[in-house]
Amino acid sequence: MVSLEINEIKYEVDVPPDVPLLWVIREHLKLTGTKYGCGIAMCGACTVHVNGKAARSCHLLAGDAQGKKIITIEGIPQDHPVKRAWIAEQVPQCGYCQPGQIMQAIALLSEDPNPSDQRILDFMNGVLCRCGTYPRIKRAIRRAIKESKTL
Ligand code: FES
Ligand code: FES
Repeated sequence: MVSLEINEIKYEVDVPPDVPLLWVIREHLKLTGTKYGCGIAMCGACTVHVNGKAARSCHLLAGDAQGKKIITIEGIPQDHPVKRAWIAEQVPQCGYCQPGQIMQAIALLSEDPNPSDQRILDFMNGVLCRCGTYPRIKRAIRRAIKESKTL
């Protein structure tokens, strides 16, 4: 049994503590916005926030996530500047990688609200997009920064 706090809701889930957090999120809690890509922390599709930092949920054991604040894509409000920018720039193609991209982008902007182009490139580097939406991702991040400043 593990006790988890996800999107500000507390859950008791009947799984062994060595189950990856991603499995709990998708299979037990049916929060299917977070995606399974590689399963070995190499693609970023499974990115969530753990205590405000981007983390690969395929590589984090549910037992180790206890006592931490976990946010998934479902926990990000629809009117969040990053989600709005993603829509305005029409970033997704197939869409599969996009929850991970958005979670990574939000983690970047909470660490560094005014990142350089190189910082954006470096920080987003580990989240792969097979559809090659990288230029639109960068434009959306720039738009979110601009909109956040005018809020
Ligand atoms: S599924 Fe977790 S990094 Fe690829
Ligand atoms: S939009 Fe298809 S993998 Fe990124």
